[in-house]
This record gives sequence, structure tokens and C-alpha cells, in this order.
Amino acid sequence: MDKNELIPLALEARENSYSPYSSFRVGAALLTKGGKVYKGCNIENGAFSPTNCAERTAFFSAIAEGEREFSAIAVVGGKDEIKNFCPPCGVCRQVMSEFCDEDFKIHLYNGEEAKTYTLGELLPEGFNL
Ligand code: THU
Repeated sequence: MDKNELIPLALEARENSYSPYSSFRVGAALLTKGGKVYKGCNIENGAFSPTNCAERTAFFSAIAEGEREFSAIAVVGGKDEIKNFCPPCGVCRQVMSEFCDEDFKIHLYNGEEAKTYTLGELLPEGFNL
């Protein structure tokens, strides 16, 4: 499955975003090495810090189902229409680095065009125990 299939699934996931505090709606679609897709959205909280990003929602759903190997994720986010790229936050990059190799692909879409990074590019010299 390539980015052209994964990005529409991230847009679909964004429909379920629970973001009453920021109105910043994010969706993610995570592809396993076995070819399954797990979707995630951001889930905000009135106490703010319990908020979960779309990327981590997708990862944690997949991991809870027993998945451990991932090849790519698509991420889309923004208020109302998508107008800008939404690169994963630092916490999500760290979660990715727990489970993914440096060549894990991160596809971003701004409503017009896509661009792709590897995890190694977005988190160089990441920490792992
Ligand atoms: N957010 C994500 O879901 N993913 C990102 O990559 C960046 C930020 C969410 C968290 C919060 O609900 C909202 O976007 C604004 O920060």
C-alpha cells in the first residue's frame, strides 16, 4: 500500500477527531509490515495533558492488537480545511522510535501535495534503552 492509499485513510480517521479545545483536527493511518492499517485521531481532554495525538492513538491501537512491526504512517491535520503539513510532535516521534526502524516512512499531506520523510530524518540520534 502506498501513500496514495494511506493518505485518504488518514483523512477518514480525522473525521473522528475529538478536539473541542484546540479545534485542530488530526488523523493518522498506520501501515503494518503485514499490510494492515490502524487509524487514529487526536483525543483531547479538559485537563489538557491527557490529550493523545492521532499518531499515538494509531500506534497504541495497533500495539494493543499485538502488532509490533510497521512500515509507514500518513498524518493529516489542521483547523477546518487542511492547509499545512502536520509533522508529528516530538513525543510521537519518540513513540515511533520504540517500534520502528530509521527507514519507517512518514507521509504528510497539506491538502494539495504530499511529502515523505523517514523517521531517521525526523528524529536523528533518537534515544533507545
Ligand atoms: N496533534 C496531533 O494529534 N498530532 C500532531 O502531530 C500534532 C498535534 C494534536 C494534539 C492536540 O489535540 C492538537 O493537535 C493541537 O496541538
